[in-house]
Amino acid sequence: MKTHSTGYIFGFAAAVCLVCSIFVSGAAVLLKPRQEENRVLDRQSQVLTVAGLIRPGQDTDAAKITELFDANIVAKVVDLKTGAYVDDIDAASFDQQKAAKDPATGRPAPENDAKVAYLPNNAIVYQVKDGDNVTKVILPIEGKGLWSTLYGYLALASDVNTIEGITFYKHGETPGLGGEVDNPNWKALWRGRKAFDEAGAVKISVIKGLAGDPASDPHRVDGLSGATITSRGVSHLVQFWLGEHGFAPYLAAFRKNGG
Ligand SMILES: Cc1cc2nc3c(=O)[nH]c(=O)nc-3n(C[C@H](O)[C@H](O)[C@H](O)COP(=O)(O)O)c2cc1C
Repeated sequence: MKTHSTGYIFGFAAAVCLVCSIFVSGAAVLLKPRQEENRVLDRQSQVLTVAGLIRPGQDTDAAKITELFDANIVAKVVDLKTGAYVDDIDAASFDQQKAAKDPATGRPAPENDAKVAYLPNNAIVYQVKDGDNVTKVILPIEGKGLWSTLYGYLALASDVNTIEGITFYKHGETPGLGGEVDNPNWKALWRGRKAFDEAGAVKISVIKGLAGDPASDPHRVDGLSGATITSRGVSHLVQFWLGEHGFAPYLAAFRKNGG
C-alpha cells in the first residue's frame, strides 16, 4: 500500500481546511445581504402582528409583509430623553441595539429591575396610521427573563395608555415554561389593559396567579405558571420601557401634541 509522508498529510489537511474556510467565509459574505433582508422582514412581520394587521402564524409572503408595512406603518426615531422626533436619522436603517452599545450613541443604563444594561440616546417607534391619524403606537421592549434577554414590542392605542398587544421576537426561555410568553392565549390577556394609573404612573404588571378581566382588573396580567422569574422579568421590562428612562418622555410629548 502506498504511504504518504507526514508533510504530505499535513499539507493535504491544510489545503482542505483552506478550501473549506474560503467556501464558508464566501458563503457568509454572499448571504449577508439576504440575512439582513430577512431580519428586516422578520421585524416588519412582528410589528404587523402586534399591530393586529396580520394574525400570528399567518402565512404571509415577503412581498405582502412589505406591502402591508409600507401601507400602514411609519417608523420614527425619537430622542429618549426629550421625547422629540429625530428627523435626521433614517428609521429604516437605524439599529437601536447597536446604538445602545456604542458610546457615541448610547450610554450605560441606570440600575434597573429589567436588567437593561445599555440605553440608546435615540430609539425607534412605529406608528400605525389611518390616513393622517395615528391609531396605535408600537414600542420596542427588552429585558432579562430567567435565562435570556427577551426582545419584543408593546402596542398601545392612540391614548398611549390602552394596551393593544405584546409580542416577543427573540428570547431563550424554556419552552412550556417561560417560553409561554409566545402563547397567543397569554398574549391576548394583555389587550384592553391599561399601562398607567389615573395619576400617570406606570401601573401594569404581571402578577403571580390569575388576574381578572381588563374591565375589572385593568393593571394586572396573569403570571405564567411555573415561570415566575420570566413573568417578573416581563413585568419589569414593560415597566422600564414605559418609564422615565424609556419612552415616558416620548409618550408625554405624544399626548401633548396629539401625535
Ligand atoms: C429545566 C427548568 C427550566 C426552567 N425554565 C424556567 C423559565 O423559562 N422561566 C421561569 O421563570 N422559570 C423556569 N424554571 C423554574 C424556575 O427555576 C423557578 O422554579 C420558577 O421560576 C418558580 O416559578 P413558580 O413559583 O411559578 O413555580 C425552570 C426550571 C427548570 C428545572
